[in-house]
Amino acid sequence: MRVTIFGTGYVGLVTGTCLAEVGNDVVCVDVDANKIARLERGEIPIYEPGLEPLVRANHASGHLRFTTDAASAIAHAQVIFIAVGTPPDEDGSADLSHVLTVARTIGANLARHAVVVNKSTVPVGTADAVRAAIAAELAARGANVEFDVVSNPEFLKEGDAVQDCLRPDRIVIGADSARAIDALRTLYAPFNRNHERIVLMDVRSAELTKYAANAMLATKISFMNEIANIAEQVGADVEQVRKGIGSDPRIGYHFIYPGAGYGGSCFPKDVKALEHTARAHAYEPRLLSAVEAVNAAQKRKLFALVERHFGGALRGRTIAVWGLAFKPNTDDMREAPSRTLLEQLWAAGAKVRAYDPEAAGEAARIFGERADLVLCDQQYAALEGADALVIVTEWKAFRSPDFERIRASLGHAVVFDGRNIFDPKAVEGAGLAYYGIGRGRSI
Ligand code: UGA
Repeated sequence: MRVTIFGTGYVGLVTGTCLAEVGNDVVCVDVDANKIARLERGEIPIYEPGLEPLVRANHASGHLRFTTDAASAIAHAQVIFIAVGTPPDEDGSADLSHVLTVARTIGANLARHAVVVNKSTVPVGTADAVRAAIAAELAARGANVEFDVVSNPEFLKEGDAVQDCLRPDRIVIGADSARAIDALRTLYAPFNRNHERIVLMDVRSAELTKYAANAMLATKISFMNEIANIAEQVGADVEQVRKGIGSDPRIGYHFIYPGAGYGGSCFPKDVKALEHTARAHAYEPRLLSAVEAVNAAQKRKLFALVERHFGGALRGRTIAVWGLAFKPNTDDMREAPSRTLLEQLWAAGAKVRAYDPEAAGEAARIFGERADLVLCDQQYAALEGADALVIVTEWKAFRSPDFERIRASLGHAVVFDGRNIFDPKAVEGAGLAYYGIGRGRSI
């Protein structure tokens, strides 16, 4: 099919590339000419495993094209995806200005039927707003062109986005027209083999499904972080509790890892946006507010442990940090717990030596040059002259380190394991003090 995607960010680029990979003729549009020029040269603006070769191959074969020319991209399309950003507004609600600008552009240019698909995470009711914006533009120029608006939220995980897109566990389609459903069934047929993955529903339910999924996952994490904090107080080990409850298939092992709090571009934003939507409809979301509050406190947990260990005396100390990205396999530091930790350490007068396999460039961009931050290009280099080591992101390369070497490098033999990736006995066996999250001993 002929597909146009507005927005070459994370969602748009991955979706466009995967649709091109299965033989569609895809045009990706962005207002950022510099980004489009880079994509034309095969340069990928984000770090995502497996994406670059797919973009290059499909660009080379002509299945995937990049342009800033919205009018020609709209003329090309049978299906138009809106995959532009919905950053949080001051009050936590999603800012729909980019989505509605695209809708108006579509209305101003549409000359024959197209299915317009909302892929961005947008509050309930946005499809109606998009429909109205397109219709208003069509009316303004006296054009009588039919179109459909569909909600088709994405469930991609950063780091696994290509696989999630090529092998989705579900394809949620919220639509109110048979013509639109047919078009999306055809488009998604290559990803819908072996068993039915398409879940059809009305538009508003599809919009809410996206928020419900992320809010549920965020709730699981905050729940486990709360249990971890209780475990710490009562002298229990949350890692054993986690295995104990995960074995119940109704609970499951996924997404019950306690840690330094959830970050990223989705959970924090989406939980807040859903809270906002609820309040806008006169419902007070007590659970969602608690999920948020627990997470905000959890992001301060590592600093609290470090501060307590050093009796509050952090001025002049150097803390080594392994992991800056909000999770492994990405360079994304949006809302990352590392940011809270670094800010708190700096406020307490400590210096930071940090290592992350991918996020050093992002950290340099966010923090700029500063005397109290050294970004190291090797994990053990971060330990040089440091008093303590804090693990913030569970990159694979951190899982089995040389504990003897860590002890020999550190001024104070202490490790703070913000993701519970180490066996406390192995750490302590090497002569290091160990602090984890919710592991009784950190009392
Ligand atoms: C999340 C969802 O998992 C995707 O399904 C969704 O499509 C995406 O948001 C989105 O809305 O676009 P993502 O933000 O890439 O994906 O990252 P996750 O793997 O979900 O991790 C989010 C955060 O939760 C990370 O900071 C991670 O460290 C934390 N986490 C995750 C935990 O603390 N414990 C866990 O057990 C799992």
